Amino acid sequence: MLRPLSKLKVEEIATSNPAMERCLRLAQLAATSDVPVVLLGETGTGKTLLAHAIHNSSTRAEKAFVAFNASAMSDTLIESQLFGHERGAFTGAQTTVKGKFELANQGTLFLDEIADMSPLAQVKILRVLEYGEFERVGSEQMLTCDVRIICATNCSLLGRVRQGKFREDLYHRLNGLTLLIPPLRDRLEELPALIAAELKASGRREGKKITAIHPAAMEKMLAYGWPGNLRELSHTVRTMTLFCDGHVILPEHVVFPPDLKVASEEVGAETPEIAPNEPKEKEPNDLSLSKALMRHISLVYEQTGRNQRRSARLLGISRATLARHLRKIAPK
Ligand SMILES: Nc1ncnc2c1ncn2[C@@H]1O[C@H](COP(=O)(O)OP(=O)(O)O)[C@@H](O)[C@H]1O
Ligand SMILES: [Mg+2]
Repeated sequence: MLRPLSKLKVEEIATSNPAMERCLRLAQLAATSDVPVVLLGETGTGKTLLAHAIHNSSTRAEKAFVAFNASAMSDTLIESQLFGHERGAFTGAQTTVKGKFELANQGTLFLDEIADMSPLAQVKILRVLEYGEFERVGSEQMLTCDVRIICATNCSLLGRVRQGKFREDLYHRLNGLTLLIPPLRDRLEELPALIAAELKASGRREGKKITAIHPAAMEKMLAYGWPGNLRELSHTVRTMTLFCDGHVILPEHVVFPPDLKVASEEVGAETPEIAPNEPKEKEPNDLSLSKALMRHISLVYEQTGRNQRRSARLLGISRATLARHLRKIAPK
């Protein structure tokens, strides 16, 4: 299990994928200098994690790591968030507040989702990076700061420059080293180790002792595209832990979110046949885990021709546990 973000160092991140190895080597190099870093990767690939790790491995480790995400912020808020404000600078400014640049002084400022920053935020940040100076909102006094910048983006900044959405001068300021973090589907060799680590943690959380993954369950995960990358993997492992009532993860326990496009097409295809008040065929509308578990047990039990010994083995539970569940499903 990885250490918390506040402690994690680059050298503690393991990989068995060559592209990720390259990325980690560059991250180590980045940690030895103050060069600005751009972390480019899809959502959930580990950009925030790596930003922390680079800071913790750098000479600035003892100083602050400050994160800032300006993508969903109004322009007035951006200014006071970045540079702080003096007491009375605007209605509601009851105390003097330091901004992100001041808080990150001598440390690292992590600019997340940089490609979506408004033009104003881009100008403001560029000015500080060029002159190392800024003033709090409502103050004339120039403050200086020494910050190391790491930014993260899920789309190419150069692409945004070409679209006219990102300032070229800021792009050059930020673009020291670009680290490309590959998506999970391109580093599948890491999957078994990542699952094992997540499973251990989620088993502990749920109070379950899961000792194995059925090869067909692993197959299912290897064939999946993981659009949400490592974040999605973590959630998937959590749900399969909940579904698993024995010691072995079975393919049925591995559940991915429904493909919304396919689901809506299916709904669309059915619609003409359903008159407004006509009762629909009953759907399994109880989606609770215990009901899903019961359905799964019944299915396996029926498929084995109601053989308790085989069902228990397939489900990875004891015969006594199976018998207990069966009594709940079909009480005598
Ligand atoms: N190499 C890794 N090993 C284990 N867990 C990881 C790794 N990289 C990322 N994670 C986990 O995946 C999740 C998403 O990572 P995060 O850094 O937030 O992604 P991003 O910022 O790219 O969206 C987090 O819970 C993080 O701890
Ligand atoms: Mg992030």
